[in-house]
Amino acid sequence: MTNLEKVIEARRSVKVFDPEVTISKEELTKILELAGKAPSAWNLQHWHFAVFANKEVQEKLLPIAYNQIQVKDASAVIAVLGDLEADKKVDSVFGPAVEAGMMKPEIKEVLNNQIKGAYQDKEYAKLAAYSNASLAAMQFMLVAQERGWDTCPIGGFNVQQFIETFKIDARYTPVMLIALGKQKQPGRPSGRLPISELTTWY
Ligand SMILES: Cc1cc2nc3c(=O)[nH]c(=O)nc-3n(C[C@H](O)[C@H](O)[C@H](O)COP(=O)(O)O)c2cc1C
Repeated sequence: MTNLEKVIEARRSVKVFDPEVTISKEELTKILELAGKAPSAWNLQHWHFAVFANKEVQEKLLPIAYNQIQVKDASAVIAVLGDLEADKKVDSVFGPAVEAGMMKPEIKEVLNNQIKGAYQDKEYAKLAAYSNASLAAMQFMLVAQERGWDTCPIGGFNVQQFIETFKIDARYTPVMLIALGKQKQPGRPSGRLPISELTTWY
């Protein structure tokens, strides 16, 4: 098995974390950086990570996540937010490449026009926020696993309450929470449907 295969096979959604374990800011930053290497449409990196890495804020998050205990016991909880206005990143994403002579200004203008065109459609902006941020979320879980951490993705939380409590900017839409820590109990074994049932070959 390759290392990646081992990581994929080992990952489980862990529900019981050791509450005594903490994670350093450096380690968490490294995982976030690697998660951010995920692909995204036009490289617009439609994610923003809200980090909850102390018991006080995690306790505030607990009722919002319907008292799912992993939110409190994990070493950190990351809210992966999708950027509904990722088109605003054109200059910060492509500007350095133009300045370094690696991209012609005309190409940046072509991309800018494509992006502005796509973002006229608010439904597109919303779908792009969810799909692209989800790629970073998955990558976050695999990178964490590879570095010896366990995770649990959490969709069960009150989005409106989350936005209000933590004053999340309207630019962002919460996609999922991810609890990260060291397991006290392994996650339940989880089967998968046969791939043939989930595949159509054309
Ligand atoms: C978008 C999403 C939302 C989820 N929400 C929750 C949740 O609120 N609470 C929870 O305990 N697990 C949650 N899970 C974990 C799933 O139950 C789990 O991934 C699935 O049962 C397969 O198990 P595995 O991840 O261990 O392979 C969620 C997973 C995803 C991808």
